[in-house]
Amino acid sequence: MKRTFFAVFLSLVFGASLTMTLAQARKSRATREFMREKLALSQKLLEALAIEDFELLSTRAMKLSAMTQLETWRAVETPDYDLQSLQFRRNVDALAKAAKDRNLDAATLAYVRVTMSCVECHKFIRGKDSAMLKIEPTNPARLALAVVTR
Ligand code: HEC
Repeated sequence: MKRTFFAVFLSLVFGASLTMTLAQARKSRATREFMREKLALSQKLLEALAIEDFELLSTRAMKLSAMTQLETWRAVETPDYDLQSLQFRRNVDALAKAAKDRNLDAATLAYVRVTMSCVECHKFIRGKDSAMLKIEPTNPARLALAVVTR
């Protein structure tokens, strides 16, 4: 009886962990593609800045700002991540505004700030990620909790 119960428990835990791993893989592939788009768009900002095309610059900055409002952007759902996102969006919005004002110096400064907030968020994410990776797959209690609260 005890054995059967244990076997059922084990298969539940493994089943759940497999499902979660698959879901995680799917999610991270979508996230990676999204992050690549973000990279491409930010590179195009530099292009617009370099050729002093303010129209293009503001359109692209606004597009990048809009990306931060999408569900895929929220790869991590914590208040800290939201704060990083907010900081990033502020800088992108400042860039869009500088472009509308046709202010090249302000736009260049805003572009540097945008780049700094890319790096800041990644620094934050990497610290978080390694901590999460250490805990999640190996701790069945946490897994069980994750299944229950899902
Ligand atoms: C609010 C947080 C945040 C900001 C700001 C941010 N990113 Fe990211 N970025 C992430 C997360 C989350 C990932 C996915 C996890 C990882 O790769 O470590 C990621 C991954 C990436 C990747 C790797 C994608 C891959 O193929 O693995 C690139 C490239 C990238 N971001 C570029 C940028 C650029 C360029 C900017 C600024 C214009 C930026 N990011 C701003 C959160 C952010």
